[in-house]
Amino acid sequence: MAFNFTMPGRTIMGQGAFDSAIPYIREMGKKALIVTGKIITKTGLTGKIQKKLEGAGIASAVFNDLPGEPDDKMIISAVQVYRSEKCDFIIGLGGGTPLDTAKAVAAMSVLKCELIDWAGKEMKGDFPPLVLIPTTAGTGSEATKFFVYTDTKTDAKLLMKGDDLLPDLALVDFNYTLSAPRGITVATGMDALTHAVEAYTSKKASPLTDFYCLDAIERIFKMLPLAAKDGNNIAARESLAIAAYEAGVAINNSSVTIVHGMSRPIGALFHVPHGISNAMLICECLKFALDGAESRFADIARRIGAGDFISALEGLTKELEIPTLRQYGIDLKKFEEFSPKMAKDALASGSPSNTRKEVSEADILKIYKILREK
Ligand SMILES: [Fe+2]
Repeated sequence: MAFNFTMPGRTIMGQGAFDSAIPYIREMGKKALIVTGKIITKTGLTGKIQKKLEGAGIASAVFNDLPGEPDDKMIISAVQVYRSEKCDFIIGLGGGTPLDTAKAVAAMSVLKCELIDWAGKEMKGDFPPLVLIPTTAGTGSEATKFFVYTDTKTDAKLLMKGDDLLPDLALVDFNYTLSAPRGITVATGMDALTHAVEAYTSKKASPLTDFYCLDAIERIFKMLPLAAKDGNNIAARESLAIAAYEAGVAINNSSVTIVHGMSRPIGALFHVPHGISNAMLICECLKFALDGAESRFADIARRIGAGDFISALEGLTKELEIPTLRQYGIDLKKFEEFSPKMAKDALASGSPSNTRKEVSEADILKIYKILREK
């Protein structure tokens, strides 16, 4: 069997990545739209990036009106700013929300029809150059051809894809992750771990992605508890930034599976941060997925030096104090009521079908029920 393997056009990783990237950024255009969040702007990072651009003779405008995970309205507003400011390339700076929004803006600045019309299709076009700079070690969005957004008409979280959405340049400097508070560090780290485990146990896993997955899993198991305890642990931050990128490369080529499929509807309907809803689901979903993929889970256990991977994972989620639905304050009656719709949305996303074991609507409902009763 042959495997198709894609990555960002160029990746610059490590301390001072932005400065090393200036010659490449200069070739991209004359004015950048920086898509970022208000918190990042408040920390002064957006201003610093603008100064560096200015020093290189590149103008910029900022769009940071992203109050939550991206939806169609935010994307349209950002495209309007891109056009009115006469920008010719895009820089996404921040966590998953700004990076995903930056991809969506790049695509929708060119494509004629509405975003929803591209659901389930390959987004293709001559999109403007795209630079992605993560400030969290988690989503791996800087290394993927995907973005997720919420359609405000249906409240569904949709996964959009297209090779043309891969960034031309990914800049990964762990220094930008140092200011992430514990909650964000844990949620995003668990998202990255979920990516790596799902990609390793996916039907689409390949020798090339296996390498990235196992390295990412080992790094996260070792370093996430340390970064959660002390956000200034440089070694942990550096290792997690690498792991998040690796896990991004892995899902870009081998896809996510049942956990992400079931997680998106929880995020869309109950506004649980993406990494936390993954972390709430991961142990129960993987117990289900184990049968049929035993040797894969055994590989992971060996790599992290554990006897049994699921037990090690349960230990990690406990140590990181991942809440249950009840502890998070979710209305469990409403959760039960919405479960059939969530199960349908989960299956419709296509992700569960990458699991090595067949996943039915009834299986998904069973797992949602276990979560409710925890
Ligand atoms: Fe994710």
